[in-house]
Amino acid sequence: MIEYKLINEELAIKHSNEIKQYFKELLDHVNMPKTQEEIEELYYNMVKFIKDNTAYIVGAIENEKLLGFIWSYKREVNKEERYHVNYFFVNAQYRKQGIGKELMNRVIKNARENGAKAVELIVLADNKGAVEFYKKQEFINEKMYLVKGI
Ligand SMILES: CC(C)(COP(=O)(O)OP(=O)(O)OC[C@H]1O[C@@H](n2cnc3c(N)ncnc32)[C@H](O)[C@@H]1OP(=O)(O)O)[C@@H](O)C(=O)NCCC(=O)NCCS
Repeated sequence: MIEYKLINEELAIKHSNEIKQYFKELLDHVNMPKTQEEIEELYYNMVKFIKDNTAYIVGAIENEKLLGFIWSYKREVNKEERYHVNYFFVNAQYRKQGIGKELMNRVIKNARENGAKAVELIVLADNKGAVEFYKKQEFINEKMYLVKGI
């Protein structure tokens, strides 16, 4: 049975190898490859934000294995409290089974309980699978980030 757990410091340490591996795969997937040193730094920051209570991270765990996680944090946008999702990843072998949806629902529930009015994130336009996922979860396109190669 898959359990959805708040990733506290203890779980972040227990699942450190999977978390680092997922950071690596996620950042490769969105064309922002990182060196091992940069992945270590990202993981270090994750633990730091968990300790100071500014990260709300939920993991999907089955038989001691981390299958995916979502990392969000509270921010204010135009005087509105929101939760921003900055890292979201489900192990490729476990996708399309509802894990991502459940992780996102946990973030939405926590955001509501903490008085936030929205959950937001940035997705690359060519990350088609993720775009489809967000459409299904009724996210709307609030702004467009434009670029012109020169
Ligand atoms: C995006 C991601 C987290 C979704 O996780 P998941 O566990 O596969 O999602 P779910 O199984 O909960 O899917 C929920 C719904 O979205 C749909 N969906 C998920 N991935 C999809 C895809 N690639 N293409 C089309 N629809 C998709 C599912 O079919 C499902 O639809 P349903 O509710 O009608 O059954 C996962 O694909 C992932 O880790 N991708 C790589 C990392 C990434 O791009 N992260 C987001 C960065 S912004």
